[in-house]
Amino acid sequence: MGPVTDAADLIAGLDLSAQAALGSGASFWTTKPIGALPPVVLTDGPHGVRRQSGSATDHLGLSASEPATCFPPAVGLSQTWDPELIERIGRALGDECRALGVHVLLGPGVNIKRDPRCGRNFEYYSEDPYLSGTLGAAWVRGVQSRGVAASVKHFAANNAEHDRMRASSDVDVRTLREIYLRTFEIVVRQARPWTVMCSYNRINGVYAAENRWLLTTVLRDEWGFDGVVVSDWGAVADRVAAVAAGLDLEMPTTGGVSDAEVVRAVRAGRLGADAVARAARRVVHLTQQVIETPSQPTGFDAAAHHALAREAAGEAIVLLKNDRDVLPLAPCPLVVIGEFAREPRYQGGGSSHVNPTRLDIPLEEIRRFTGEHPVDYCPGNDVGAAVTAAESADAAIVFLGLTPEEESEGYDREHIDLPSAQLDLLRAVVEVQPNTVVVLSHGGVVRLDTVGALAPAILDGALLGQAGGGALADVLFGVVNPSGRLAETVPLRLQDCPAYLNFPSESGHTVYGERMFVGYRWYDARDLPVAFPFGHGLSYTRFEYSDLELTPTDAGLSVRLTVANTGRREGREVVQVYAGLPRSGVARPPRWLGGFASVTVAPGERRGVEIPVSRADLAYWDTDAGRRRLEPGEYEMSVGASSRDLRLTATVRLDGDAASRPFTRESTLGELLADPVAAQTILTVLGAASPFGTDESALGGNLLRLLESVPIGRMAGFSAGKVTREQLDALLAAINAQRS
Ligand code: BGC
Repeated sequence: MGPVTDAADLIAGLDLSAQAALGSGASFWTTKPIGALPPVVLTDGPHGVRRQSGSATDHLGLSASEPATCFPPAVGLSQTWDPELIERIGRALGDECRALGVHVLLGPGVNIKRDPRCGRNFEYYSEDPYLSGTLGAAWVRGVQSRGVAASVKHFAANNAEHDRMRASSDVDVRTLREIYLRTFEIVVRQARPWTVMCSYNRINGVYAAENRWLLTTVLRDEWGFDGVVVSDWGAVADRVAAVAAGLDLEMPTTGGVSDAEVVRAVRAGRLGADAVARAARRVVHLTQQVIETPSQPTGFDAAAHHALAREAAGEAIVLLKNDRDVLPLAPCPLVVIGEFAREPRYQGGGSSHVNPTRLDIPLEEIRRFTGEHPVDYCPGNDVGAAVTAAESADAAIVFLGLTPEEESEGYDREHIDLPSAQLDLLRAVVEVQPNTVVVLSHGGVVRLDTVGALAPAILDGALLGQAGGGALADVLFGVVNPSGRLAETVPLRLQDCPAYLNFPSESGHTVYGERMFVGYRWYDARDLPVAFPFGHGLSYTRFEYSDLELTPTDAGLSVRLTVANTGRREGREVVQVYAGLPRSGVARPPRWLGGFASVTVAPGERRGVEIPVSRADLAYWDTDAGRRRLEPGEYEMSVGASSRDLRLTATVRLDGDAASRPFTRESTLGELLADPVAAQTILTVLGAASPFGTDESALGGNLLRLLESVPIGRMAGFSAGKVTREQLDALLAAINAQRS
């Protein structure tokens, strides 16, 4: 007998009150015990285990938690573009959960970074749904391989902190499907998470927790999700409406208040008893899934996990700029400037805050590499002192970034600038020290035009977790060859950002006016210059691309190429595939990410790379048909080292899906003429019906364009009886039959 049957049996033996009680927490972090089954322990996540075993509990990162490895937060992890590594981290997190008695780890956060001001961007992966979904799925696979449940969050369209518990994200369906839901869809379909956390916000006016379309139609009926939908902490405004919509578990506890509401609603006929039983059954099933795993290990290997955190941080660091090959540094007299070298900024604020097992201090780690050479240190508040030290050193490393107060869960930023005092400091140091390296620490994107103009070398550390200090030293001194890539565009200025005029909410509504033109899709469509493009990241070696081959497959497309390392060090290249359909019939960005792969290549070596691109990642969401559609046409496929460093491009013809909607009298001439089956027949009708025939010269060659928007049914009137409605209906029926 499988666990599902067990769960059904167990539920059948419980009365309504007991079933309702299973649908809400017993405490801040636990569910209720069910007979012999112990309570399930849920905990944040995502980049470490925040297990609060004492009496003080909170979801704001305030009270203490047990020591656990602080891996790089999502902003850093995403810069690895490395699902295999993220899956390994997932496994390590799963092991720590088991050791700390945690059954559900609340992550990954896969919301799209719609605007750089969102206070929680540090906890999300990317502005691109394919990248976010692929990395999020890897994390889930890793965690769940240890018998610990993941909780993909925050479902959905939770892209700002301002008024996050009330505001409605007003998004059109196509944009939801292609961008904001797509990430979750990839994770759910690929990794089958055991739980999904619904978000605080409303979507098009309806709370996520009460949104039946979201929680049942899309998530379960379409994507096949069969786990537990858990609420974000305190997200349920109306538990009865939420249960009816498909919410299974309200967290945290409400002390029984909402359980009683559910019971009353069933008794009054306002809620089906089956909905309550279904939610209870799913909670029981989850309990069985997480409790049934083999016996708990007694601890975890903190040293091995620290080493893994260092490896991940090393892969996450992005070499944004490296003029004159200033990096890597040889051991030499150095000055290190800035507080973050001594007190690193390595994770974000709020519910994800982890109590690290240990913490690498960048300054100390740098000192390990310089041998007998002196390493001077200046906090940077005394520009006099920093300049003097920089003058007498061979190179300066300047740590810049945002303090924890400037960004956190719970609120958004109002600007994306670095503090002006930091820029003044950098200006002064660069004036006396040509070999200046900037190291950046931040959760959300910061404006980098000034830093980019001043500093010859820049390392973007984003947030790197507890081993970031060691990893930075590894990259600074060339022990690790940088291979991280930006998962987010760095704009030249906030005013260029896609959601600039629609962020955050106003009167409780956030208008997603930029639609699917998020991140690089926007900058490329508008042809805007940026500081550093999506996917950018340099290496200490060089790679050359050749032999691009495109082969249509049943699943979509196979992209093959060769990558050669023409430099002098081994390196990892993240090869990115971008798709475009210049003659698309709908609005589309010039290019979008369709796939990627990393390849490690030795100097002088050439390696073949194959990257599959799925039909779903080439298609658009056909709103009329209510499904994804691959347009037939010539797809332009580019491979490159960033979204703006495309090395090779080729085109491939894909047959695509037929337009699914049958033609009716309301279909326009333009729509019919665009269809290969309908076009010829319609031209004949047009010749008979229009007073000008199809003689373009009659209207200066513009005839067809002028008539494009006329619904075909109106031709009966325009033709003064030459073509009747009945004839049109017969023609349309014949065309539809041929197309189907
Ligand atoms: C956050 C979630 C978190 C939960 C529990 C909420 O405020 O939005 O991401 O998992 O608290 O701490």
